[in-house]
This record gives sequence, structure tokens and C-alpha cells, in this order.
Amino acid sequence: MFEPIFEQLPTYLRVKCERAFHRYRIAKTAVICSGVKIRYRNKKTKGQLIMRKNSWVLFNCFLDITKTIHIGEDVQIAPGAMIFTHDSSLSMENPVEKEVVIENGAYIGAGAIILPGIRIGKNAVVGAGAVVTKDVKEKTTVVGVPADIISR
Ligand SMILES: CC(C)(COP(=O)(O)OP(=O)(O)OC[C@H]1O[C@@H](n2cnc3c(N)ncnc32)[C@H](O)[C@@H]1OP(=O)(O)O)[C@@H](O)C(=O)NCCC(=O)NCCS
Repeated sequence: MFEPIFEQLPTYLRVKCERAFHRYRIAKTAVICSGVKIRYRNKKTKGQLIMRKNSWVLFNCFLDITKTIHIGEDVQIAPGAMIFTHDSSLSMENPVEKEVVIENGAYIGAGAIILPGIRIGKNAVVGAGAVVTKDVKEKTTVVGVPADIISR
């Protein structure tokens, strides 16, 4: 209900309000910037937003919390990235619903899309604009559509 108002809040107020009103489990040192949309929470699926310390979700990201999104410590999610936990492409009544996990130290590039059920490993990097359709192992960099591994 308060989402459109919260989205406009300055960065320094956003986490405080999300914790107080929506009871998201966000560490005090985590940051959610203005313009970030957090949507689709519902009573049936009980999705949550969990953010550990020193993690950042930057401007204009989209977080679908039909199911829980787990964001570890020291994670950066660059502007405009989108994380989805449900897929109604086959059925509106019975969508696929799966949690997403982003482990400590991972980096998600600007405009990347993470699909339901994906796990991004510790210190992994997802390039700008990638569409992640498979789990990404720790310390691995993926780019492109669909995202594939590059060596660095
Ligand atoms: C993925 C990334 C980290 C790779 O950086 P890097 O290790 O320096 O990689 P390079 O620039 O050497 O590129 C290696 C190859 O991957 C390709 N590549 C790099 N980033 C890519 C991307 N996002 N999408 C598709 N291809 C990409 C390059 O074209 C290059 O291909 P080639 O070997 O065929 O020439 C970086 O390109 C990236 O996307 N960073 C995110 C930037 C961002 O979102 N910033 C927001 C700041 S808030």
C-alpha cells in the first residue's frame, strides 16, 4: 500500500521505513536507493526481502518478492537490475514460484535480470544486461543473454 511513496524516499530513509512498515529483514548497514520497486508480496507465498550487512540495491531496481529474495553481505546490485521469484508465463493461476539467493560479495551489473530459483554464488559477477537462467558458481563471471561464463 505504501510502496509508491516509499519508492520516492531518499536513500537514507528508505531502509528505516521498509524495516518499520513492511518488516523486511534488512540489516541496518544495508542500503536501498530511491526508485527501487519491491512488489508482489502476498499472504499465500509469504515472500520476504532479506538483506545482510553492507549490501546495496541501487537506483530503479525491481525486486519481486512473491517468494523470498536472500541478499548476502557486501552484495552490490547495480541500477535497473531486476530479480524475479515468480513466472506466470505458463499459468496465471499456478505460477512457478521460487526463491532467489545472492551470496556474499556478489555483484549484479546494471540492467541484469535474474530469473526465479537462481543462486548467485559468493563473489560471482553478473555483467550488465545479462539474463541469468542458470545458477552462477562462486567467483565466476557471466555475461550476455542467456548469461554464460567468461574468464577474467
Ligand atoms: C562483466 C564485466 C564485469 C566484465 O568486465 P571485464 O572482466 O573487464 O571484461 P572485459 O571488458 O575484458 O570483457 C571480456 C569479454 O566479455 C564481453 N563483455 C564484457 N561485459 C559484457 C556484458 N556486460 N555483456 C556482454 N558481453 C560483455 C566483452 O565484450 C569481451 O568480449 P570479447 O572477449 O569477445 O572481446 C563488465 O563488463 C560489466 O558488465 N560490468 C558491470 C558494469 C555496471 O553494471 N556498472 C554499474 C555501476 S553502478
